Amino acid sequence: MNLRTWKFSALICLLSAGLVPGADLARPTPRITYEMPDEVDAPVDPDADELAAFDDYSWRAFIAIDWPAKLGIRGVPDETKKIGDFSDPGSKVVWGTWKADYDLFQPEGTEPTEWFSFDGFTPCPGLPFAGSGHTMVLGSFSGFRDFNQAGSGGLGSPLIAQNHTYIRFEVRLNQVEFDFIRNRQLYRKTLLPAAGGPKLRFPDNSVAVKAAWRVIKSDELPAAQRRYYMVDAMVLDPVSGKCKMQKMGLVGLHIVQKTPKRPQWVWSSFEQIDNVPEPGTTPTNGRHYSFNDPSRRQSPDPSTAPRPISRSNLPADNPRPMQVIRSKKIAGSTRKTNADYQALLRGTVWENYQLVLTQWPKFPQPEEENGAPFPGQFTGPDPMTNIANTTMETFFQKSAATSCMACHDVARRKGTDFVWFLQLRAN
Ligand code: HEC
Repeated sequence: MNLRTWKFSALICLLSAGLVPGADLARPTPRITYEMPDEVDAPVDPDADELAAFDDYSWRAFIAIDWPAKLGIRGVPDETKKIGDFSDPGSKVVWGTWKADYDLFQPEGTEPTEWFSFDGFTPCPGLPFAGSGHTMVLGSFSGFRDFNQAGSGGLGSPLIAQNHTYIRFEVRLNQVEFDFIRNRQLYRKTLLPAAGGPKLRFPDNSVAVKAAWRVIKSDELPAAQRRYYMVDAMVLDPVSGKCKMQKMGLVGLHIVQKTPKRPQWVWSSFEQIDNVPEPGTTPTNGRHYSFNDPSRRQSPDPSTAPRPISRSNLPADNPRPMQVIRSKKIAGSTRKTNADYQALLRGTVWENYQLVLTQWPKFPQPEEENGAPFPGQFTGPDPMTNIANTTMETFFQKSAATSCMACHDVARRKGTDFVWFLQLRAN
């Protein structure tokens, strides 16, 4: 082989391995498996276009944690089942068996029970301590917190669906993250890092999710059955102080995982496809969206973030629906990955979910730094593509300064390694 042909074949090798700086990585082959990826299958290379690799990671994480879980144990996928198989009564998805925020922050300083225990106090006064973990609960000990999205200073706005109901939010943690918090008693405010003191470093493969749920009314049930992941949950009415069993449909899911090569975590966000029309498309009259009325003007109403629900701003009985739009298009490459995975999930409710963004640290070293997120640096031009979930950051869709990593950077600077809820919920 002469030098010229050698150079040429070396270039072909590099190209096919996707290693040429600046060249697109090869598009990973989509696969359906219960195995949670513990790293993103891409080199750390700030010059490479890694979007397809990160989006593939996001989908695999979504599928793994939405796998039907083994009954009676926390956090273990049932390998004998297929994704979307809910034939067992009482079956949950893997993340649905993880510990919830209220499992950690028990009232009056009660110690949280260990990972595998199903005992604990819940915000529903009627549920007995023993075995309460077998019931899905949506509510908060503080009464109103699960009505509100995140705001720039902590608490943000409520979201009201077209069916005149409030969206409810919850946070759940895998065993790695839960054990780290429980062992260090980080549910106590006094044990959180002090200003200027040493900061926390969560263990690799800590995973947290934040979910948004909407009430499915009985007349919506037949159509929703095929389109939503639905659960029966005890939902707290903070005004009466009582919980009522309700059908809830999953409308949004954030997943974050700290990985060995990405210590600033990898940020993935999914939505149900009927949330809002996609920008650039004409909303179809007659199509039922959860958060958008196609016959109304396609601009956000309210246009700015409304006040949080609280003791002094109680939830209304029949609240007026909000008009929500997606401000920025989902990236073209992400839409392609969505179509590939949705095709593999055909016939399950999961074909009705879409990845709306993945965000990651472009420069993960040094790990004490913010990692220079992509898309959207903290300063500089705002990204062209979507950086928010319409169900969880309805009023923060436009600016890089309010992307996932930018907002969670506030918690990093306070010493809790990007983890926000410790700052807000520790007692
Ligand atoms: C405007 C600020 C803000 C933005 C933007 C934001 N978050 Fe959060 N996030 C929060 C706050 C505050 C909490 C704590 C909520 C609570 O305790 O109720 C939180 C909670 C979470 C949690 C639960 C674990 C934790 O850190 O508390 C996850 C997971 C999460 N967010 C992911 C995301 C993702 C993914 C995005 C981007 C699509 C995002 N967030 C955008 C502020 C934000």
